Amino acid sequence: MEALMEAVVIKDLCCTYDGFVAIDRVNMIVNKGEFVAIMGPNGGGKTTLLRAIAGMIKPQRGYVKVKGEIGYMPQKEHVNFEIPIKVREVVEMGIMSKKKKFSLFSKLSREEKELVNNALKAVDMLKFVERNFTELSGGQQQRVLLARAIATKPDILLLDEPFNGVDLPTQEKIIKLLDNLASEGVSVITVVHNVSPLIHHVSRIALLNRELIAYGKPEEVLTPENTAKTYGIPIPTTVCKEGYIHPLFGDIHG
Ligand SMILES: Nc1ncnc2c1ncn2[C@@H]1O[C@H](COP(=O)(O)OP(=O)(O)OP(=O)(O)O)[C@@H](O)[C@H]1O
Ligand SMILES: [Mg+2]
Repeated sequence: MEALMEAVVIKDLCCTYDGFVAIDRVNMIVNKGEFVAIMGPNGGGKTTLLRAIAGMIKPQRGYVKVKGEIGYMPQKEHVNFEIPIKVREVVEMGIMSKKKKFSLFSKLSREEKELVNNALKAVDMLKFVERNFTELSGGQQQRVLLARAIATKPDILLLDEPFNGVDLPTQEKIIKLLDNLASEGVSVITVVHNVSPLIHHVSRIALLNRELIAYGKPEEVLTPENTAKTYGIPIPTTVCKEGYIHPLFGDIHG
């Protein structure tokens, strides 16, 4: 029975760029409906791991097995739309790219247009649907990229730093949205620098610094030993009134 619940199985995964080892010996299982946060220093291999799960890069060694459709929200720094493109089209592209038969001239069905609208509504960006993507603020662009990832109703949702530049009320809304998706059975795997806002919702945390330093329940993972191995310095933690562990400084950049 247990095996049926596994949405992502990663075994002895090693990924390289021209011989440079970005991640190595990663073993990880994410179950259906789990909400997992991946943390680690810049260059620690978080984006590489998400790309490997999405099948965008081939492992040098080991494997990734996924059960179901994937939705991927790239790190905003890696997205570069040079051509003017409307918000609606950004989300439509996400749907088109999932189609078996893809043609530049194929039109979206009514149901698919409905998916686009619903996804934009979920991130509160429907009112910007006819605006140019490049003319949006950074946080607004982030929300549109999230809409693109959820529009196809994926079974596994991969998010790379979805909260960067997003204001706190919107962040709260998005967390609720992700929590709802997880309770509906979507496996949510998100890279974050500051896990604190998510800590009441995540089932497991992965600490990644080339190798997987630790993977498990937040209170088991966020020990001074593990965070020192990950970041080079131990991160102090506190336990909130509700009994959840919180790192005392979340955003670690250089
Ligand atoms: N396309 C690429 N070609 C060569 N090296 C790469 C490429 N992409 C990433 N790397 C290297 O692989 C390592 C891991 O990069 P990755 O982008 O996965 O880190 P990250 O944990 O996502 O970092 P950040 O927090 O800055 O987003 C880094 O040393 C990076 O320089
Ligand atoms: Mg990254």
